[in-house]
Amino acid sequence: MRSLFAALSFVAVVISALALSVSAAEKKPLPWEKNHLQVGQSLYRANCVVCHDIDRPQAESKKFGPSFYQLFRRDKMPLANMKPNRDYVKLRVKFGGAIMPAFAKKLNDTEIDTLIDYLQSK
Ligand code: HEC
Repeated sequence: MRSLFAALSFVAVVISALALSVSAAEKKPLPWEKNHLQVGQSLYRANCVVCHDIDRPQAESKKFGPSFYQLFRRDKMPLANMKPNRDYVKLRVKFGGAIMPAFAKKLNDTEIDTLIDYLQSK
């Protein structure tokens, strides 16, 4: 009986040690999250920067599409009559516009979210 109890408490110790190591692992930033905004920037450079500036205001931009300089700090989107919001930007990226191409087949939801995190950081 005593050895059964010892065995059970040993099992309990092992399980709680495992649980501890799992929760410790969860707290560490995942490798791909560390450079999250850099990933967003690369996605932006690969897909958007040909047509949308981000580091210069509209007045200085010579690109085809509107500049996204400090987009999320503005009162309104450059063209759409609404406050900048993630859902709208996401829809526009997925489905494009009259001229802008759609990216639904090229970028997945996670990539679009990362890209918008980058836009929001500027
Ligand atoms: C080939 C050029 C081109 C590319 C590439 C492009 N866009 Fe656009 N985008 C435009 C043009 C032109 C408009 C405005 C006219 C329209 O909607 O077609 C626009 C409009 C937008 C709008 C709406 C702005 C508003 O005020 O309503 C958003 C948001 C947007 N683009 C985001 C992006 C993002 C993010 C990317 C990269 C994934 C991207 N675009 C890639 C040309 C482009």
